Amino acid sequence: MLQVRRFDPDFSDLPRHWYAGDVVLTHSVNALNLIFPDGERFFVRSVKHFAPRLTDPKLKQDVKDFMGQEAQHGHAHSQQFEVLEAQGYVVRDWLERYKHVAYKRIEPLTPWRWRLATTVALEHLTASFATFALEERFLDEAHPAMRDLLLWHAAEELEHRAVAFEVHRAVGGGYVERVIGMAIALTVLAVFWSSATRHLLRQEPELDRETVRASKRRLAAQGRSRWSLLTRSIGPYLRPGFHPEHAHDGAPATAYLASVGRLGG
Ligand SMILES: [Fe+2]
Ligand SMILES: [Fe+2]
Repeated sequence: MLQVRRFDPDFSDLPRHWYAGDVVLTHSVNALNLIFPDGERFFVRSVKHFAPRLTDPKLKQDVKDFMGQEAQHGHAHSQQFEVLEAQGYVVRDWLERYKHVAYKRIEPLTPWRWRLATTVALEHLTASFATFALEERFLDEAHPAMRDLLLWHAAEELEHRAVAFEVHRAVGGGYVERVIGMAIALTVLAVFWSSATRHLLRQEPELDRETVRASKRRLAAQGRSRWSLLTRSIGPYLRPGFHPEHAHDGAPATAYLASVGRLGG
């Protein structure tokens, strides 16, 4: 049984460079935060479209809870937009362009089944990133407000990791469609993630190229670059017998939620 939890982050003392003072790392995650809320609404639309065809009562309930969890993630992440603006960053223009291209142009051209398959792929990527964050303690050096927001989100991504996959399977989706979904997911994510990161980094007048290069080298050496996170995630997904329930372990999510007293809601 999935729990829908509300989370209101306290950003009152969030510094501009909240991730260990590293500008590149901070904006790389800020960029994901810009992408998340509308991305989560896309997941909800894609899964909800197929909900009337489901017959299994357990899966129907999981879909409702999945939509509830994703709605809360979108709500919590979008609270950072105003914080970024108060810190002097311009983000609304980028958000409008992203929404227009991704959800007004690309989405309507994509068949519903591919939208669902893209959601299955993105749910695998979020569950993979969640595992890295929880098991490899990526966020230990982050400001507590961002760390708590991201770990709560990570834990719930692991909790509902199989829901979109089960919906896809229940409506007859198979391997080829899932791989098409991953191709779309990787292309769209790589383009918008890079674009949002560049948009934020361009607003750092003090930043020089050598600092950017040094930060990227450090991340690559630690296996935390965007490229290494994505490539580490894809292998298990391409196996024909892939199932998110077995590809990811739910134990780190349970342990984290228990440690912050939120296992029950
Ligand atoms: Fe989410
Ligand atoms: Fe999710």
